[in-house]
Amino acid sequence: MEILTNIEDVQIKTAEWVREGKTIGFVPTMGYLHEGHERLLEEARKENDHVILSIFVNPLQFGENEDLDQYPRDEEHDTLIAKKYETDLVFLPHNETMYPRPMSMNLSVSKRADVLCGRSRPGHFEGVVTVLTKLFNICRPTRAYFGMKDAQQVAVVDALIQDFNIPVTLRRVPTVRESDGLAKSSRNVNLTSQERREAPMIQEALYLGRKQVENGTKDPIEVIKATRQFLDSRTRGKIDYIELLSYPELEPVTEINQTVILAAAVYYDRARLIDNVVFDQT
Ligand code: PAJ
Repeated sequence: MEILTNIEDVQIKTAEWVREGKTIGFVPTMGYLHEGHERLLEEARKENDHVILSIFVNPLQFGENEDLDQYPRDEEHDTLIAKKYETDLVFLPHNETMYPRPMSMNLSVSKRADVLCGRSRPGHFEGVVTVLTKLFNICRPTRAYFGMKDAQQVAVVDALIQDFNIPVTLRRVPTVRESDGLAKSSRNVNLTSQERREAPMIQEALYLGRKQVENGTKDPIEVIKATRQFLDSRTRGKIDYIELLSYPELEPVTEINQTVILAAAVYYDRARLIDNVVFDQT
C-alpha cells in the first residue's frame, strides 16, 4: 500500500492505471475511519482493480462556527483500516497541497442545497463539490463510493457528476449503524453518555414517520409533526430540522407518492447529528 501526499505522484499512478485499462474505486473521506467508511472500502475492493482512499479534512466545507478544529484525527488507525481492505493507495494531502492559493473561481450549487443541511450550513456543499471535483481529477476513479448516511451529499454529488459529465459512476452505500440503531459517525465520540443514550431516538423517530406513510398517511406535514413530537419527547438535543422531500431532487412534496427522504438533524452540546430514511411510496 502506498501513502502519497503529493498530487503529481497520485496523478502519475492513476494515469498509468487508466492507460492499462484498470478500474479504479475511489473512497473520499475526512478520516477517523469507522465501520461506515469500512463498508465503502469493502464495496470498492469488490468491484475494482485498484482502490484509492483519500483522507482530507476539507476546510472549505466547514462554516466559521463549525467543528473544523475539533474534528477528530487518527492517521495511524486509518492506515491500518486501509491495509485491512487491501487499499492500493492512500492520498493524504496537506491543506497547502490542495489549496496552495485562494481559488480563482467557485462552484455554486443552485439546486438540492438550500434544504436540510444546506440551509443550516451555508457554503457547505460548495466546499464539498469543489474538493470532490479536484479529487476526481487527481484520482480519476471509475467508481466513487458514498454513504447514504449523508443522503443530501449523495444527491448533490449525483448532480455534480451529471451537470459536468464527469466520467465516474456514483455508488450509494447504505448507512451502517451501531447495534442500538445510531448511525455511525466520527462525531459520536463528542456525545456525553446521556446524549449517547438518547441519540438512537433519531432513527426511531424517522422509522415511526416512515411507518405512518406505510400505513397510508399521504400528508408530509402530518408525518413531520408526528416525527418531531416523538423525538422532542425522547431527547434533550435541539432539533435543527425534520424535513420530508422528494429524493434525489430534494423538492417539497404536497402529497407523498414518490421516492422521498425523511431526514433529521439534532444539535447536542458538542456534536450535530444527522440521519435519514429514503423510501419509495409509489
Ligand atoms: P466523511 O464524513 O469522512 O464521510 C466519508 C464517507 O463515508 C461519506 O460518503 C459518508 O456518507 C460515508 N459515511 C459516513 N458515515 C457512514 C455510515 N454510518 N454508514 C455509511 N457511510 C457512512 O463525507 C465526507 O467525509 C466529506 O464530505 C467528503 C465527501 C470526503 C468531501 O470532503
